[in-house]
Amino acid sequence: MNRRRKIYEGKAKTLYEGPEPGTLVQHFKDDATAGNGAKHEIIEGKGVLNNRISEYIFTKLNELGIPTHFVRRMNMREQLIREVEIIPLEVVVRNIAAGSICPRLGLESGTRLPRSIIEFYYKDDALNDPIVSEEHITAFGWANPQELDDIMTLAVRINDFLSGLFMGAGIQLVDFKIECGRLYQDDTMRIVLADEISPDNCRLWDAKTQQKLDKDVFRQGIGDLVDSYREVAQRLGILVESENALTTGPRLVK
Ligand SMILES: Nc1ncnc2c1ncn2[C@@H]1O[C@H](COP(=O)(O)OP(=O)(O)OP(=O)(O)O)[C@@H](O)[C@H]1O
Ligand SMILES: [Mg+2]
Repeated sequence: MNRRRKIYEGKAKTLYEGPEPGTLVQHFKDDATAGNGAKHEIIEGKGVLNNRISEYIFTKLNELGIPTHFVRRMNMREQLIREVEIIPLEVVVRNIAAGSICPRLGLESGTRLPRSIIEFYYKDDALNDPIVSEEHITAFGWANPQELDDIMTLAVRINDFLSGLFMGAGIQLVDFKIECGRLYQDDTMRIVLADEISPDNCRLWDAKTQQKLDKDVFRQGIGDLVDSYREVAQRLGILVESENALTTGPRLVK
């Protein structure tokens, strides 16, 4: 097998040089981290599930005309993506209060917010990804006002789509995080959705029982992460019952 050039190794994924210029291979690992890497475990099957869930969501977004970096899934753990210039922001959309917004604003977890709220965090592990305002973003040049506008439009459209998608599966979309990038093609630049959308970066609660089906299961040590992610995949119709074995036990390797 050819040795590929590794471009970047993050906590959850590795990026390799792609088969054509302007493309990358995004490889989903089994590493689970929380608290900026303070808690770290290998959870067998997580990468395979996130690859499938993210493929499913990005394919639907592409079909809806919401631009993304996603080209196609290549195998159980990898997808072909277009290389973008990542905007150093974590864009969080919140529908229901949970996580860091609760202590910050004195809200009880589970409170429905008056409307969906977009927050920005500056992507910098050394600073612990601090929350920033639009003023900081444009003053420091992380994105210009037009780009910020495009990012917010993208975030709202994705929230509308995902809320409906999960509601149809009996799941509440509490909040989620996205990353966007600049895609340069034929002398033009546009803002597209990059990275991944999976239970690693969404809060997903069962609509009836409020049971958590996302990475909080790992953060809070309240259950089996792979069981939760598999449940999400099954409810979305991505995995059928008989495919469960794909994410655990022995499997055929191409
Ligand atoms: N289309 C793309 N082009 C270039 N880089 C991308 C693209 N999509 C995602 N990335 C970047 O690839 C990396 C994915 O790795 P991973 O999610 O494991 O990183 P991480 O450990 O969360 O660290 P961080 O996101 O802070 O860099 C991220 O840095 C992300 O910004
Ligand atoms: Mg990441």
